Order: sequence, then C-alpha cells, then structure tokens
Amino acid sequence: MEDVGNKVSVHYADEVLNGILITTEPHIILKLSSGYNIVLDKKKITKMETITKKKDPERKTAPAQQKNNHTVSLLHTGGTIASKVDYTTGAVIAQFSPEDILSLFPEITEHATINSRLISNIQSEMMRYHHYNILAEAIAEEIKKGVSGIIITHGTDTLHYTSAALSFMLDNPPVPIIIVGSQRSSDRPSSDAKQNLLSALFFITTTHWKGIGICMHENMDDENCLILPGLKVRKMHTSRRDAFKPINAEPVARINYEKRHIDLFDKTEKSVGPFSLKKIKEDLRVGIFKSRTHMFADELLFYKNYDGLIIEGFAIGHMPTEKIDSKTGENEKIYDTIKKLCEKMPVAFASQCIYGRTFMHIYTPGRELLKAGVLGDYCDMTPETAYIKLAYLLSNHPKEKVKELFNTNLKGEISERT
Ligand code: DGL
Repeated sequence: MEDVGNKVSVHYADEVLNGILITTEPHIILKLSSGYNIVLDKKKITKMETITKKKDPERKTAPAQQKNNHTVSLLHTGGTIASKVDYTTGAVIAQFSPEDILSLFPEITEHATINSRLISNIQSEMMRYHHYNILAEAIAEEIKKGVSGIIITHGTDTLHYTSAALSFMLDNPPVPIIIVGSQRSSDRPSSDAKQNLLSALFFITTTHWKGIGICMHENMDDENCLILPGLKVRKMHTSRRDAFKPINAEPVARINYEKRHIDLFDKTEKSVGPFSLKKIKEDLRVGIFKSRTHMFADELLFYKNYDGLIIEGFAIGHMPTEKIDSKTGENEKIYDTIKKLCEKMPVAFASQCIYGRTFMHIYTPGRELLKAGVLGDYCDMTPETAYIKLAYLLSNHPKEKVKELFNTNLKGEISERT
C-alpha cells in the first residue's frame, strides 16, 4: 500500500484517478486536484502507484524586515488562517507558527515592520471569555509600544464574537485593530488569507481610522476586501470567502489591494478619550435561547441559575406566550417562566431575523414581554453582539445599571436610525 500523503495514481473501475492519498482504512480516500475528496471502494481498485512522495514540512524562517515608517503587531490566535491541510486525516489543523505566516506572505514586510506574537493557537469555537481577556491584554501591551495598528489572525467561526468582545472591552483604541480570518487554509493556492492580511495591513498603514474591524473578502472573487464594523457583522455562510456581511450597518471601507485603492465610508470622528481595558468575568454564565414553535416552558427553566439570558425570538419581538385555544396552554407557562427569569437576571430579546430592528411595543405579545421585564426593544444588535454585550455589562456594572445600559447605544452596536 502507498504511503498516506503521497500523490498517487489509482486505476479504478475503468478510469485512472490522480490525487493525494488521504486515508487507506477502511476505505481509500483521495484528494483530487479540484480540492474535493473522493472515497473509493478497495475492491474496484486494480492498481495504485506513487507519482510523487510526500514532502516533509520544512520550517521556514521569517523574511528579513525592511525599513518602514509603520510598525504593526500581528497577534495570532489560530483558526484556518494559521492552518494547513494534514494529509494523514484530510483535516485542516492549526499548525502554522507566526514566523511561518510571515514567510508565506513576505509582501507583508514591505508595508510595515511586523511584530509577530502568538497569543493562542486554537480553533475559534474553543474560545472562552478567558481568551478574550488575554487577547485584550496583549492588544493593550502592543498599544503601549506605540504601534501604528494591530492585526489579529483568527478562526472565522466565532470571529464576530471576538470582534464584539474587543469592541466593548477596549475603550478609545488609538489605532486600528483589524481581525482577519480565512476560509481556506494559508497553504492552499485558493486561500483568501493573503488578500485579507495584505488588505488589512494596507488599510492600517494608509488611513487614520481607529477602532475594531474585520477584514474579509467582499465577494467570491479576489477583487475587493471590506473592513466591517466589529459590532455589526456576522458570519453568514459556511464556506464562501465572502461569508462575513455587515448587519444593519454599512462597511467601514472597501480595499482594492491590487490597485492600492481604499474607499473609506466611515468618516466619523472617533472620541479621543484615554484608552482603557475592561475585562469580562470568566465565571459568568450567559445563555442564548432560541425560541421556536412548539417549545416548552421548562427548557427556559434550565437558565434559572445563569447570570443573564438572550432570547432569540421572532421578528420584531414575539414569542409563543399567549394561550389562544385548548392546544396553546403551554404558551402561558412560557410567559410565566420568562417573568420569573426576569426577576432573577437580565433577560434580553434579539431577533432571529438578524436584519432589522425590534419593535416590541407594537403588538400585544411583545408588549407583554416588555411588561415582564424583557430588555432589547428598539435594538438592532445581532444575537451574538447582544450576548457579548450582556456578558460585558454584567462583568462591569451592577444588575440595575446593566438593565439600563443594555438598551443604550454604547459603542455603535445599536444603530441610531433604521
Ligand atoms: N474551526 C474554525 C475556526 O477556528 C476554522 C474555520 C475557519 O477559521 O474558518 O473558527
């Protein structure tokens, strides 16, 4: 049997397939040059031979830095952008060091002197509040050094949670802090990592914008990247390069790196108060509950010992909370349970629609939820931003103040107008 990782030629039924051998047990799996994996029935294979042997990964050294006017810190947290394909499993695993990333994209050093630093090397779905705190601390340290900006490489799955957390935790950042991910690992020719990284770097070294943003592809092609506002953005597709969309907001900027052109849309003057960092308490329990048809009151009771709860409800502010006939008695119990939860903790509504604003005071069910104490009326935060906001507020304010601040626009998380 050929070695896993080798490029092989397989005579299969009446065709010959070439690809990277990913596994041999229990089936043969080949990665074809199209990038797709194919599973082959061993019984139908008449011949298999190696075309090229797998190469052992070489450790690269970072390219020499060029003289630059800007110093940018590159903080690595992991994710696909710091990953490569492991041909023994076919999976993408986090394994690039910061130096590897610099050597993969040596153009980076043309724009700025890069301080590269490893904060964590994890898939972003593994993150906890602890990881937001260590990242925010590292950012504060880099800001103290006087850098022109900070790029954070991050997995895309929860990138918008991190951008929301940093947006709340960091007051008056004096430089741009841009989070960059990629949908294809950096070692693939089709990777979007290079374009996203270089665009973020070009943006930092060219504009005077300050704040927390995300830099990802605008469309499926490589033409433009967008800087998206950290509090009003969401991953909206499982795999496309343009998975991140601004939600209830406009992009901050469009970057055409090839043409070295930037359209800056966000020209608002940022306040120039002192920079500070407020952490999120690592022992907090904040939940997100998705309401739906035919739900049950006792599901909500699960959250009775939590510190706060976001309810993803319907449309402008509804949930199954009214008994309208003999089959809907459970809805009354749901309402009573929500009322009880509101007495113990902040409970806030965010819409499953994602786009648009809540108007809970318009129909009776919404008005009843407001009467019970549910927060979140007239807000247009994504459930993820609302969740992070609640955790941030609970970490830094007494409960009564949390209730007041949740519905108040603090950092651009609630649009002034729809
Ligand atoms: N597990 C994913 C994450 O870290 C990898 C996917 C990605 O980076 O796009 O978010």
